Amino acid sequence: MLHPDLKNKEFPYKDITLVPNRLPDFERDEVDLTTDFTKKTKLKTPLVSSPMDTVTESEMAILMALFGGIGVIHYNFPSIEEQISEAEKVKRFEAGFVKKPICLSPSNKVEDIYKINERYGFFSAPITEDGTLKSKLLGIVTHRDVRYQKNMKLPLKKVMTPKEKLIVAYRKNTLDKNDIEAANKIIQKNNLDTLPIVDENFKLVALVTDSDLRKNEAYPLATKDKNKQLKVFIAVESRLDLAKERIKKGCEVGIDGIVIDAGIVYREQIEIAKYTKKKFPDIEVVLGNIDSGQMLKEILKETRDSVDGLKIGVGPGAACITQQELGTGRAQASAVYDCAQTAKKLTGKYGKIPLCADGGIKILNNPDSDINKPGDITKALSLGSQTVMLGSLLAGLDEAPGEKEYDYKEEKMVKKYRGMGSPEAMRTRSSVRYGIDKTKIKIAEGKEIKIPYRGSGYDFVPRLIAGIKQSFQKQGFRNIGELQKYADIRPLPE
Ligand code: XMP
Repeated sequence: MLHPDLKNKEFPYKDITLVPNRLPDFERDEVDLTTDFTKKTKLKTPLVSSPMDTVTESEMAILMALFGGIGVIHYNFPSIEEQISEAEKVKRFEAGFVKKPICLSPSNKVEDIYKINERYGFFSAPITEDGTLKSKLLGIVTHRDVRYQKNMKLPLKKVMTPKEKLIVAYRKNTLDKNDIEAANKIIQKNNLDTLPIVDENFKLVALVTDSDLRKNEAYPLATKDKNKQLKVFIAVESRLDLAKERIKKGCEVGIDGIVIDAGIVYREQIEIAKYTKKKFPDIEVVLGNIDSGQMLKEILKETRDSVDGLKIGVGPGAACITQQELGTGRAQASAVYDCAQTAKKLTGKYGKIPLCADGGIKILNNPDSDINKPGDITKALSLGSQTVMLGSLLAGLDEAPGEKEYDYKEEKMVKKYRGMGSPEAMRTRSSVRYGIDKTKIKIAEGKEIKIPYRGSGYDFVPRLIAGIKQSFQKQGFRNIGELQKYADIRPLPE
């Protein structure tokens, strides 16, 4: 419930507070943060990493998905292939049955195994007759077989474990029944790293790896598709021709959805959404950004069921200057509330549409402190969003692209963070996001800043989640539904 003094007012997160007036009778860890990023993508953690070139490539997307959130791979790469290869790394990262393992042939060299490791981060490769999946399995090469090998030109047939010595499983007993447990038992009993799955003609059809199985156990919150692969979205620009190519290539590696990413929503996005749903009905579509109920209504009217989620936020981000430069945008908390209220009213007509509050979750006020502000996330959720999208909060982590460096003036380790509309990012290619690609004069809508280095996300993200849960628990809310129904949202004194 919004306090009457806030009605018809513009207010950022920092100007509001949530008043605890329920008596909590449960522990922090009983809080359930399950939510929806889109109509079909459920998350156990309401966190989404932003498609920015200093935030989300494969490492960040893997981190987010393992902890129950999701990552959106940015599109600011020199080529479409590079973006898709990052998405592919996420899809291959963890799987019950790896259905498209990278195979090599007996004449490939030791150096080829190292190339696979560089590109995908693993060492094992099944060796098949012609080096492709579905030809006969001849052997397998794992890290053990090559780690002391100095001769990079040695053919793999000299180092592989040959098929006579291999333990394999048959597809009819495992894959056909989607029985990962049966495969797991064989792995454990024989102390294997990798178990090839073959058909009755000894042709390779899939692979199961021990490390994947262990990762499955360690991350109970992980966001996965029906093949037990991590979910990932990619960003596409608001240009139909470019987006078409990204979507097609993205589908080939199994992406789960797209975020049509623009500072402010653009009419061509509606065409892209309709095109995607017609050609690739399983791909989910998120549009954005918007910042008013009025805009939300218009979009739902035009897209109908071609859109699965909307992103809210024009100019609240830490590296944004759209509001200052162009006089365009809005205080984020009021934008989220306005959109959520309108979405609720329109549920009967268009169904439920999940909203993602994008930007403005601040940590920069107190960069030296290790305490971030999970409370801002709770506020965003209480105002009616289902998830929050984070840029600056994640950009200081090891898993964000770019190297950490020592800032002599500030005397601390930092990482660079830049708006996708900053001159630095635009030089690469993101100018399409700001709709100015076809013009010569570029107007910056973002800046580059330094963010305190925050170490490993595998420490940071669980602490952030615990912080959000603690903020729920203090107010007596067990889940996001309760928070949105009963939160007492009041203004703070100025
Ligand atoms: P935070 O506050 O989490 O915000 O760092 C991340 C969001 O900021 C948006 N973004 C921009 N907005 N100019 C803008 O006005 C830019 O150059 C820019 N780059 C990113 C984006 O929505 C992101 O998720």
